[in-house]
Amino acid sequence: MMKKLIIINGPNLNLLGKREPEIYGANSFEYFFEELKEEYKTIELTYYQSNIEGEIIDKLHEVGFEYDGVILNAAAYTHTSIGIADAVKGIETPVIEVHISNVHSREDFRHLSYIAPNAKGVITGFGLQSYKLAIQSFL
Ligand code: DQA
Repeated sequence: MMKKLIIINGPNLNLLGKREPEIYGANSFEYFFEELKEEYKTIELTYYQSNIEGEIIDKLHEVGFEYDGVILNAAAYTHTSIGIADAVKGIETPVIEVHISNVHSREDFRHLSYIAPNAKGVITGFGLQSYKLAIQSFL
């Protein structure tokens, strides 16, 4: 059976490639995702992005009793959302928190994660490579 993993990206990550490229890089996530699918052909890899907190929670509920792993970049909601944190705690599927930038080298408000206490692990600061490191941790 192929492992089922999903990447869930939160708010503003639809603008990757256009948004603050000096922090988040010049590639769109769609382009990067095609590369990932090529590289990890033995995994069933899905991608979901939403700018809406409740939609991210709905998606976690939908996959959280079925998939083998969630790779979650909740973006700004990482630092604010008790709702997403509770969803991560409430589901069975392990969740890895990822960030493109190193949140600990940035503003103080990015140092707090409501998700981290219930995540399997946290990967932050390796650019888009952070997602690959998360995938590899599930292999
Ligand atoms: C981010 C870091 C967050 O602090 C920020 O709000 C984002 C992206 C990252 O991937 O580096 O939108 O999650």
